[in-house]
Amino acid sequence: MNSLNFILLLVCFTPVSLQNGAEITNLQGDLLNLLEIKEKPSVARSRSQVPKYVMDLYKEQAHTTGFTKFGKSAPRKTIRTFFRDTSVSEDKSRLYFNLSSLKPNEQIEKAELRLFKRRSKLENTHGHFKVTVYRLNRRPVEGNTSWKKKLTTVATKHVKCRRVGGWVVLNVTSAVSFWSSWPSRNFGLWISVKGIGIPTSDFFIATGGRKEPILVIYGDDKDKKQDKSLRPFSEIPNETRHNGEDKHNKGKGKNKQDTSGIMNRRRRSVGDVSCARHKLFVKFRDLNWDKWIIAPRGFSAYYCMGTCPEVIDKYYDPSNHAIIQNLLHHRLNKNIPAACCVPTSLNSMSLMYFELDGSIVLKEYPGMVASTCGCR
Ligand SMILES: *[C@@H]1O[C@H](CO)[C@@H](O)[C@H](O)[C@H]1NC(C)=O
Ligand SMILES: *[C@@H]1O[C@H](CO)[C@@H](O)[C@H](O)[C@H]1NC(C)=O
Ligand SMILES: *[C@@H]1O[C@H](CO)[C@@H](O)[C@H](O)[C@H]1NC(C)=O
Ligand SMILES: *[C@@H]1O[C@H](CO)[C@@H](O)[C@H](O)[C@H]1NC(C)=O
Repeated sequence: MNSLNFILLLVCFTPVSLQNGAEITNLQGDLLNLLEIKEKPSVARSRSQVPKYVMDLYKEQAHTTGFTKFGKSAPRKTIRTFFRDTSVSEDKSRLYFNLSSLKPNEQIEKAELRLFKRRSKLENTHGHFKVTVYRLNRRPVEGNTSWKKKLTTVATKHVKCRRVGGWVVLNVTSAVSFWSSWPSRNFGLWISVKGIGIPTSDFFIATGGRKEPILVIYGDDKDKKQDKSLRPFSEIPNETRHNGEDKHNKGKGKNKQDTSGIMNRRRRSVGDVSCARHKLFVKFRDLNWDKWIIAPRGFSAYYCMGTCPEVIDKYYDPSNHAIIQNLLHHRLNKNIPAACCVPTSLNSMSLMYFELDGSIVLKEYPGMVASTCGCR
């Protein structure tokens, strides 16, 4: 079963009001499963700490509704943002990022260390800084600086001295790729700065709030096991299957039948409503998820519902097979199922959320949203 069918089951057979505790719990569990999130994070970080850069990345690839701007062709990307672990090192020039939430099979396209350099306090700013990032090759021991002799250069950058603060971006792909292969050899990064024509002490890395140093990893999730990890329909608890009240269809005012089960609904023609796309919005706040899901604010689920006519015209974008099967149903034998109102094209959705360890994940989920409906 693909992602979309799964979501359709959830949304079509779950009352929109979500008042029943058991139903909310079931829907939460099913959605987490679909999104491949093992456990709902208890958030240690607040929204106010989400760096502007990361927020902009989201806006660049998704509409406020969460639909990706690239449509169907969207590649399956995951962007992770890590904050330094100050329990390992409080030193601003030795940055440690705990990457244990990085999946072993995650392909790393690039990794950037972003440091916010405070504005210069100098009168004369004619000069620059040479910033070098090294990868540590051994665990530093207090009072012993021998680790400084075993460093691997990762990136070097010349940064102009300026009266305004700004982000310094360093390419640390080689270090992150190394740690991805050898996780136990992650001892952190060492930042060394040398002032050229100006005092080195004028280079000041900001910390705290939105100016925390961050490590941004652009990855490609090669894990294709998604469909297998989904529970088959038969295992979805009974409570989530029936739909107490068809609130989401109120506007149409035609659909008055009770819906006692999916098989009934699928086989039966649904009133006079002809096959069309319907909208349902689930607010993450109603699921108590608004603390850990940063964007979007809710899930805009579209579903396809309605009857397919005896003779299916082009408007419904039918396959030849659907036309034939539908004719067989109507003209020959009612036991042959009629054509179904189903999504004929799907769109991706982007979600940005806090991971259990406080890192931020921006991920694209393909085939989540029905963009058109038709008879197949
Ligand atoms: C990194 O995080 C994992 C999981 O939270 C934890 O088990 C591990 O001890 C951490 N590593 C370090 C060096 O703190
Ligand atoms: C520092 O550590 C290195 C390697 O771990 C060791 O060989 C050296 O003796 C240590 N130096 C001091 C002063 O403890
Ligand atoms: C970043 O570094 C990696 C490996 O060192 C290199 O392959 C890549 O081209 C660099 N990217 C940019 C944008 O410089
Ligand atoms: C679901 O309902 C059916 C019939 O209403 C019942 O036979 C079955 O045991 C129920 N399954 C669960 C998991 O409650």
